[in-house]
Amino acid sequence: MNHRDRGQPTRPVATLPAPPRYFPVAADGYRMRPGLRPLGTDVGAGALDGTLFQFHSGFPRYRENKLRCRREDYTRYVGASRLPGPVAAHVARFLAARLATEWPELFVQEPLGDGGVRLTCTLTSEVLRFGSAMEWVGLEAGVSPDPPYRDAWDALACQIPEDLAVVCRAPDATDWLAAVHVCAPSDWAPEEKLGLEFAAVHRPVPGIAPLLRASGVLVDGMIRRPPTVRLVWGLAPDDRLNRHPHAPGVQRQIPRFAAQDTDSPPAYLRVERQGIWGFPAVDAALFTIGVTVTDLRRIREVPEQCTRLAAAIRSMDAATRAYKGVGDGDELLAWLAQNREAHGNGA
Ligand code: HEM
Repeated sequence: MNHRDRGQPTRPVATLPAPPRYFPVAADGYRMRPGLRPLGTDVGAGALDGTLFQFHSGFPRYRENKLRCRREDYTRYVGASRLPGPVAAHVARFLAARLATEWPELFVQEPLGDGGVRLTCTLTSEVLRFGSAMEWVGLEAGVSPDPPYRDAWDALACQIPEDLAVVCRAPDATDWLAAVHVCAPSDWAPEEKLGLEFAAVHRPVPGIAPLLRASGVLVDGMIRRPPTVRLVWGLAPDDRLNRHPHAPGVQRQIPRFAAQDTDSPPAYLRVERQGIWGFPAVDAALFTIGVTVTDLRRIREVPEQCTRLAAAIRSMDAATRAYKGVGDGDELLAWLAQNREAHGNGA
């Protein structure tokens, strides 16, 4: 029996909203900031900002990227480190319930007589079966990916466009990155961050030291405060989702280009919508990362955005420019300036 036989709702992917087009570049130049807002705040995507998980018409691309990463080298993208069983169960239970609550036309959750749970996922045509402790039982319907789902974390993450991570905290207040399912990392290696504490995860970021002095407070807030979102942006030389530094073909910085070269875009704006949902009952938090990528030519057409981006690049020091993928920034500034001149806006 499949989900259609059970008379459950379905919604074709083509009827989902278009992917969000965020532009989180501040008007007052670039500064390193936490920028946490309550989940549900419209940060540029309207109704889609009301949910933790954002299902949009681009879903097949995100799903295919996850399956490709798992085939390429599973442990490069997915793993756990000292993840306590109760936390794994709590997170899996949350994910299944949240999907069914936020997107009832896409996910249906059924409690089973033996205490287990069945989750019907219409976009992937898969029916997932979990045991009474949310342990992975197997696929009841659908075609198993290669490699097959290893656990509930893996099976659930593959139904969701966002990447996922779990932060845990021990009774002595030390924290660590306990689980990752990250297939669209923005130039970092999930398997190298696994097991590290919050401060160590963030140490390579230029200018982040002041923020890290409050890392205990940030982690506490992640676990105990109501859910939040933050937007982060950088530039990338292409629109690929997976920017793992060791993945085949990933290029870090924007290649050199001529400012006059309007045909090929020099770069893409890469935005992450990060969601944080705390689980005080198990001293842990879920971290979600939703990536969207916009061709810089689209940004250059909008004078206000073009001016803001140029101001942000100008305000960055060399280390931040390199970290944000801007390179030395001068070619990009010249390319953006052409547009401001074209629009008579030389700000
Ligand atoms: C309160 C929550 C958090 C805050 C305020 C925060 C803040 C930041 C900031 C300011 C950056 C620099 C990039 C930018 O935002 O401009 C950053 C980078 C990063 N964050 Fe977070 N973060 C948070 C939670 C997390 C969590 C839970 C993870 C776990 C995966 C994480 C992983 C990373 C990684 C991997 C980078 C890039 C580091 C690198 O380049 O090596 N962050 N974060």
